[in-house]
Amino acid sequence: MLIAQISDLHFHLEGPHIDLIRPAERLDAAVHTLNSLSTPPDLVLVTGDIAENGSPEEYAAAGELLMQLKMPWLPIPGNHDDAENMRNAFPDMCCLRWGGQFMHYVIDEFPIRIIALDTVVPGEPQGALCPARLEWLAEALETGGEKPTLIMMHHPPLDTGLRCMDQYALMEGRDVFAELIAQHSNIERIVCGHMHRHIVGCLSRTVVATCPGIAHQIALELEGDPAFLAFRLEPPAYLHWFGDNGLITHHAYVGDYGEAVKY
Ligand SMILES: [Fe+2]
Repeated sequence: MLIAQISDLHFHLEGPHIDLIRPAERLDAAVHTLNSLSTPPDLVLVTGDIAENGSPEEYAAAGELLMQLKMPWLPIPGNHDDAENMRNAFPDMCCLRWGGQFMHYVIDEFPIRIIALDTVVPGEPQGALCPARLEWLAEALETGGEKPTLIMMHHPPLDTGLRCMDQYALMEGRDVFAELIAQHSNIERIVCGHMHRHIVGCLSRTVVATCPGIAHQIALELEGDPAFLAFRLEPPAYLHWFGDNGLITHHAYVGDYGEAVKY
């Protein structure tokens, strides 16, 4: 099974940096790249921050492009998203309503089980897994048995050294989450967004990977001033992996780089 991940589309229709970021152009390029792969993914995961301001107009415009994906796609919310506007924008996606107050769900129809978590604290940039969400996750992991499982969540559950963003990562429930992960050896990967960079780490012996942003990347200032938050227009990228013997992650760029040259 092939899974692609895209993240942090930050779709917006106006704003001070729109001519630089060109979110529609970048999302269109990502959709085109995924649709054009010689081996198309079976599924696309969209790990949050679909809309910059969470407005119905942004979801409608982003949705028009996402609907052009030739394969199914599954979203989770990020801190920029608005839960109700997001649900209303994608009424056919019943899974977005299964969790009631929270936009979490389990998809079990693929060889790898997908657990989608909602880490959003409305109005706040940082993420949380409150007791109710952790309880739901514990039950979801328990009922899944030993089936290989992938967890998708917007806020990463570890420090990455990118201090300007680490202060806005998963800040509540991190320890209990780590304990839950430690109890289940069938979790193949925890995939996140939010950091706007490709970062790989480890939590409870499980690989955690964050995905670059489709819209823009956070400037790499390792161990820098936490107050310094800036973006760079590095090429948008998505992660792409294949799993027969577990999950292998590839970092692939959006865009057309011409035909592969045989040598
Ligand atoms: Fe973001």
